[in-house]
Amino acid sequence: MKAARILVVDDDRAVRTALSVNLRKAEYDVALAASIAEALDLLRESAFDVLLTDVNMPGGSGMELLGEVRTHWPETRVVIMTGFGSVQDAVHAMKAGAADYIIKPIERDELLVLLDRALKTRAMQRELAQLRQEVTEKYGFATMIGISPPMREVYEQVQAVADSNALVLINGETGTGKELIAHALHYRSRRAQAPMIAVNCAALPENLLESELFGHERGSFTGATRQHQGKFEQADGGSLFLDEIGEIPPNVQVRLLRVLEGGSFTRVGGENAVKVDVRVIAATNRDLRKEVAAGNFRADLYYRLHVFNIKLPPLRERRDDIPLLVEHFCRKFAERHGRPVPIIAPAAMRSLQAYSWPGNIRELEHFMERTVLLAGGGEIATVRLPEAEARERPPGTQVSLRDIGPGGLPSALDSIERQLIVEALQDAGGVQAQAARALGISRSNLNYRIGRLNIRLQDITFG
Ligand SMILES: Nc1ncnc2c1ncn2[C@@H]1O[C@H](COP(=O)(O)OP(=O)(O)OP(=O)(O)O)[C@@H](O)[C@H]1O
Ligand SMILES: [Mg+2]
Repeated sequence: MKAARILVVDDDRAVRTALSVNLRKAEYDVALAASIAEALDLLRESAFDVLLTDVNMPGGSGMELLGEVRTHWPETRVVIMTGFGSVQDAVHAMKAGAADYIIKPIERDELLVLLDRALKTRAMQRELAQLRQEVTEKYGFATMIGISPPMREVYEQVQAVADSNALVLINGETGTGKELIAHALHYRSRRAQAPMIAVNCAALPENLLESELFGHERGSFTGATRQHQGKFEQADGGSLFLDEIGEIPPNVQVRLLRVLEGGSFTRVGGENAVKVDVRVIAATNRDLRKEVAAGNFRADLYYRLHVFNIKLPPLRERRDDIPLLVEHFCRKFAERHGRPVPIIAPAAMRSLQAYSWPGNIRELEHFMERTVLLAGGGEIATVRLPEAEARERPPGTQVSLRDIGPGGLPSALDSIERQLIVEALQDAGGVQAQAARALGISRSNLNYRIGRLNIRLQDITFG
């Protein structure tokens, strides 16, 4: 293997010499620069794996160099060397995207461990970039991340069926990407220019769901002051996405089966048959076969829906995809929140891969958004996963599986977080600094959480 290339930047000649001797002994390929300008010249000439730079130098600070490198040579990892008295510099550097820092006087072993870590992270990032390119080139699924065998199978199924009028049933636990696949099916079909209408069958009570889907005639029930076009009519020529189809009540199941069989229906309170050309895509996180056995779902509708079934694997069954997803969400949220893209150290990545992710990709996505916001850039060495957080919950806060609603674990955790924050604010009479202390977090962290959870301070009554 080629030796890793390290550029050492320090105005102190003695430091440069000592470092170059030690690093060469450890078989690194070392270049030396005495100033920012010299360093930039070397960087323009050839690529370096790691830049090891001092902070305070005449003619420019190592922080400026860090900024330049992050912009022009993002692949190069930057390690800051700083004096014991200026740990604050290190904090700033990490926020600005340094991979690591080391305090002078430099211990040889510490430096070697640190470089090894920086290089491993870099190798992992390269591998991810290659994988990402592979997925996009091979499948052209720009928004779908994952290249594991079960995901490849899903892509192949989507490709096979997208451009047809076949009814597709998508199965998968919460947060596995059912909605995303439904969109992919629509946008890869000949109906892509026509609308894709979505109905969440779990969100409406029986009578409303019926008129939502099929429309109603004026005067068909109290409050029906005019004719209303249902989703089937709105989706004419396009696709209708029936989300949470396992939740539809029996009499709507009957009507649905009739449309699926004959393509026509009548509006609620109407007599004339309405004919539409709609491709139906359905999704559920339930095992419909079990629902049929339990008498909750009509067997005839079940068979009708089961013509083409795409099963999305839970995240824990495709852990190989976790690094790609993590990297994708790091970029996405760094961009959205105007933060530098954090870099996940291999150890942190291992914990992310080991966690079970009961809320699947949605949970990972929320987790990464929090991580990006809390990290403030730089490298993420460790992560605090929800299981650990749950253990640290103060005694007395009782939660049970019943608290898991349609939003899955992430939204259940959000609601616990919200409760605790509101309680702390109430106890503190609205004084945020005090509430933050009670919660064991910084004031700015509290502020961020208040914003994230949309807690409206004016709505809290202070006792
Ligand atoms: N393969 C993937 N790559 C990137 N992001 C994904 C992937 N799958 C899902 N997501 C993201 O995860 C989140 C949850 O996905 P989606 O809403 O499609 O899940 P779902 O299966 O419909 O969940 P639920 O059953 O709770 O409705 C979305 O923000 C989606 O963009
Ligand atoms: Mg969904």
